[in-house]
Amino acid sequence: MEKPQVLVVEDEDVCRNMLCVVLKAHDMEAHAVASGEEAWEGIKQQRFPVIISDIQLSGKISGMDILRQAKELYNPSILMITAFGEIGMAVEAMRLGAFNYLTKPFGVNSLLENVNRMIIQQKTISENLLPSSPEELSRNSGIVGNSRKMCDVMNIALKAAGTDATILITGESGTGKELIAKAIYQNSSRKGREFVAINCATLTDEFLESALFGHVKGSYTGAIKDKIGLFEKADGGTLFMDEAGDISKSIQVKILRVLQEGEYLPLGSTETKKANVRIIAATNKDLLKAVKNGEFREDLYYRLNVINIMMPPLRERKSDIPLLINHFIKKFSDTLNKKVAQVTPEIEEILKEYDWPGNIRELENVIERAMVLCPGNRISKKYLPGNMIPGKGDVPSITIVPGTPLKEAEKELIMQTLQLTNGNKQEAAKMLGISLRKIEYRAKEWGIAGSIPFAHPV
Ligand SMILES: Nc1ncnc2c1ncn2[C@@H]1O[C@H](COP(=O)(O)OP(=O)(O)OP(=O)(O)O)[C@@H](O)[C@H]1O
Ligand SMILES: [Mg+2]
Repeated sequence: MEKPQVLVVEDEDVCRNMLCVVLKAHDMEAHAVASGEEAWEGIKQQRFPVIISDIQLSGKISGMDILRQAKELYNPSILMITAFGEIGMAVEAMRLGAFNYLTKPFGVNSLLENVNRMIIQQKTISENLLPSSPEELSRNSGIVGNSRKMCDVMNIALKAAGTDATILITGESGTGKELIAKAIYQNSSRKGREFVAINCATLTDEFLESALFGHVKGSYTGAIKDKIGLFEKADGGTLFMDEAGDISKSIQVKILRVLQEGEYLPLGSTETKKANVRIIAATNKDLLKAVKNGEFREDLYYRLNVINIMMPPLRERKSDIPLLINHFIKKFSDTLNKKVAQVTPEIEEILKEYDWPGNIRELENVIERAMVLCPGNRISKKYLPGNMIPGKGDVPSITIVPGTPLKEAEKELIMQTLQLTNGNKQEAAKMLGISLRKIEYRAKEWGIAGSIPFAHPV
């Protein structure tokens, strides 16, 4: 097999020579140049798949220029080298599509780790296994929407998939933060490795620390044997930290250490462990505000926010609603095993008028509920939650005309009462004067035992 060709652009002799020695010792072909001008000449002649470049170069053409121009010409994997204090520039480089950056002085291991993953990335690119357009990324990850805002998101996501940078996804509840995180992972050079997700809001500090970093036996009451943490489980892969805005300050420090030094201590242990994990964090909080209020560490914020993806709320991209409706009708036609036709223009209009505080998850729930309720193959107005119908206020209304089959009327009445009680079956049973068992029995009969689809997140 041909040796991987790596272009090294570095004006400091010591660093350049060190890079070449290491790469050659690991069976790579290193082509070294000392200026941006030479690098650009080299790139025009031979499209090096992997480039390592210092950000600051002495001539007129900087490392950033090389990054920009090379990325315009073809799709190399580029590792930037920065001096201490150039973090702002490094972040800019990641946004321009650099694979990663290393801050001087760096260890041989992290250099090789990055170079090896860049080689894998190039292999997947040449085998056409990575998407080459935002549309392709949307298609292969089931993300629906072609509004301007969604296209912007997919463009950033495509770039993010090609880098190893930390990502912060912000957006309201139900906007698709987890979906996009998975899409990035599945289209990145880490896709063959683990994707591990954790919700940071639901655990106490002790449990979160132990879940992330693992613990040794006896480190706290209940720690009856050693346990590995998610950083170890996700080694070589991706860790999705959901609700990252809820992480306490004492755990924030520990995560910062992993991001800065690539190492951590399991709970109760004195032996540090190495971490090789890409972090994707998500939050529906305004983190910058939390930073200003002193609730979130500023340094961690900047470490997480290397690439920022803001998921737009559904009300700001209503043109996506028709596509989403069809997507969910198709989805639930399969899971409910019920063929339902596309909605009428009137229903579409109502769904477009609504404000969607619960975003796409709410739309998904509304479609599921309507499909469960509708007797035939058409979703009509009466199967939408009452608060969506203009002029009907918040209380769901029920239009059961004489002659409606009793079964159907019963279903409608129970579902709407459940909506009123926010899914609380006990309370709904009380209001309806029937037993809890009866509601549960019916729910099972309609195939919605596990989840009554109408939660309205506020
Ligand atoms: N663009 C989209 N196309 C298709 N389905 C989507 C899209 N966005 C979100 N969904 C679906 O909506 C639901 C909610 O998405 P997801 O769980 O990713 O949201 P979230 O932002 O993580 O929400 P939360 O903050 O509540 O955790 C999921 O079932 C997801 O598959
Ligand atoms: Mg989520």
